[in-house]
Amino acid sequence: MGDLTDRRSAVITGAAQGLGAEIAFRLAAEGFSIALLDLQKEGLDHTKEKIESRFGETAVKAIPVDLSGEELVADAFREIDAEFGRIDVLVNTAGGSGTVQVRDIEDLSSQTWRTVLDNNVTSTFLCCKYAVPIMRRNGYGRIVNFSSAVAHGLSGPSGTIGARLPYAASKAAINGFTKQLAKDVTRSGITVNAVSPGLILPEEGRVRTVFDSLPDADQAAIRAAIPAGRTGTAQEIASAVAYLVSEDAGFTSGTILSVDGAAS
Ligand SMILES: NC(=O)c1ccc[n+]([C@@H]2O[C@H](COP(=O)([O-])OP(=O)(O)OC[C@H]3O[C@@H](n4cnc5c(N)ncnc54)[C@H](O)[C@@H]3O)[C@@H](O)[C@H]2O)c1
Repeated sequence: MGDLTDRRSAVITGAAQGLGAEIAFRLAAEGFSIALLDLQKEGLDHTKEKIESRFGETAVKAIPVDLSGEELVADAFREIDAEFGRIDVLVNTAGGSGTVQVRDIEDLSSQTWRTVLDNNVTSTFLCCKYAVPIMRRNGYGRIVNFSSAVAHGLSGPSGTIGARLPYAASKAAINGFTKQLAKDVTRSGITVNAVSPGLILPEEGRVRTVFDSLPDADQAAIRAAIPAGRTGTAQEIASAVAYLVSEDAGFTSGTILSVDGAAS
């Protein structure tokens, strides 16, 4: 299998902001060439510029794409393969509960249901579908999906911003998808794991903006409800991902790694 210098291409989805951007910085610091995918072109350009200014030698490619569309995903992976000639790491960070807050099942439209499942589950499935054949060529790959503590359900007013019912369902689906795919591809030298964050506040991004807009008392109540008494940092998530994509993690597959301050 050779050493890491033989395989240094990482694809990170959801990289326009938040956790995906922080994971991209971390993997760039570890010497990977980086492909950034997201719906939001402006955010992608911002992440790309930050990587280039911090790590001048790093090859970075940014592709704006809706990852719920199969043809678009197929094209994006063809483009990455043409540029880097290999994919060693895929981190499926894209997703979220959406921007429309829905708390009651009676208010949940089937359109919102489908959109949230598409953004989380379909995007993860499609990226794996087009990355795995490229990984199989080298008999090596590391895939990290993004679940959530919300897969176990949440009660009360705090937590997930958007439509939490399809969000919980989508993250539970990602757990099952991760465990099954891990078994299906293990003999090809590919590991598949998921990180399951609790409430994480990146330095910038949508979740940080929404949290900072809450009254101080609400912020304090949310922190107090977390057993660790605090929210997590994007660096703590990036460190978990860095382990799962390392060569040392070759016998770790099918794991759902909670990074949530003992919340789940
Ligand atoms: N931040 C947290 O507290 C937290 C907690 C648990 C799980 N998570 C999960 O971690 C991941 C990252 O969270 P974040 O806080 O950085 O969220 P975020 O909303 O800041 O970033 C998510 C990114 O995914 C992109 N995206 C969504 N749907 C897409 C699609 N169809 N095609 C392409 N891009 C798409 C968005 O444009 C956005 O840039 C998500 O999967 C989220 O569900 C986050």
